[in-house]
Amino acid sequence: MIKKAVIPAAGMGTRMLPLTKAQPKEMLPLGRKPCIQYIVEELASVGVEQILFITGHKKRAIEDHFDKDNELSRILSLSGQQELLEELKFEDASITYFYTRQSIPAGLGHAISCARDFVGDEPFIIALGDSIIFSRENRILLRRMLDVYEQHENSFVIGTRNVPLESVHRYGIIEPLGDSRDGITQIRDLVEKPAMQNAPSTLAVAARYIMPGRIFDALSRTSPGRGGEIQLTDGIRLLLKEGMTGYAVNLTDREKRYDIGNFQSYYEAFVDFALNDEKYGYQLKQYIIKSLNL
Ligand code: G1P
Repeated sequence: MIKKAVIPAAGMGTRMLPLTKAQPKEMLPLGRKPCIQYIVEELASVGVEQILFITGHKKRAIEDHFDKDNELSRILSLSGQQELLEELKFEDASITYFYTRQSIPAGLGHAISCARDFVGDEPFIIALGDSIIFSRENRILLRRMLDVYEQHENSFVIGTRNVPLESVHRYGIIEPLGDSRDGITQIRDLVEKPAMQNAPSTLAVAARYIMPGRIFDALSRTSPGRGGEIQLTDGIRLLLKEGMTGYAVNLTDREKRYDIGNFQSYYEAFVDFALNDEKYGYQLKQYIIKSLNL
């Protein structure tokens, strides 16, 4: 059973300025919760018990959010605000949180290598802090990835989704080995943010990974790649070159990945989550219909 997960959340969020000048993009609201709370809940739902956040400057709000606020609970309890107290239930999740900092912006691969002492030799999950996977499946993406991992130990597993050809330059792209079966594809190779004409497929890495402890050694031997940064994709490539088997598990059409690192995608996520709000979703829908004259 995999019990450890790493959430890289050190990125400066420059594409979201001025919104992210003083607050972490991972704390931006989606419906009633900050983005990162959905990710922690996703991890808890598959049995993760220890989470390491890789943070950086101006990210302290993440730590405060997951810390138990006894004073706030006391005030709510004294004033009989039971409903609001319920909203703080997530503080009691049986998860231990750890924090470390990536002080230099040296890439996702470098951020992950900051987790080496926390993870050791065990397999672990990586969930990127600015990406939500919304799922209507009984077995969510991460659960299906763990199923594949349990059937093929000594391998690694990556969550993927199909993207339009004109977007491949924004993602790590998989080169499949053989055909996909039940949304699972063996990986021959992968390449970080290729140009359209060089893309081996349109299967894009979608922010969830199950990695062996061996990735740390691979990353320590990985030279700076795209953008002069140490890329996780390049570390994974090394694992493949050295004989490890890798699988991609694809999102279904009942699942959606939201990247909250840019305004277009963040706005879409915000609207979808607000429309799904149990109490105000319907009213908001009526409001949108009216204001757009639909
Ligand atoms: C990172 C990875 C990329 C992946 C993407 C989304 O890129 O380097 O391979 O496709 O996350 O999971 P970033 O969005 O940090 O530029």
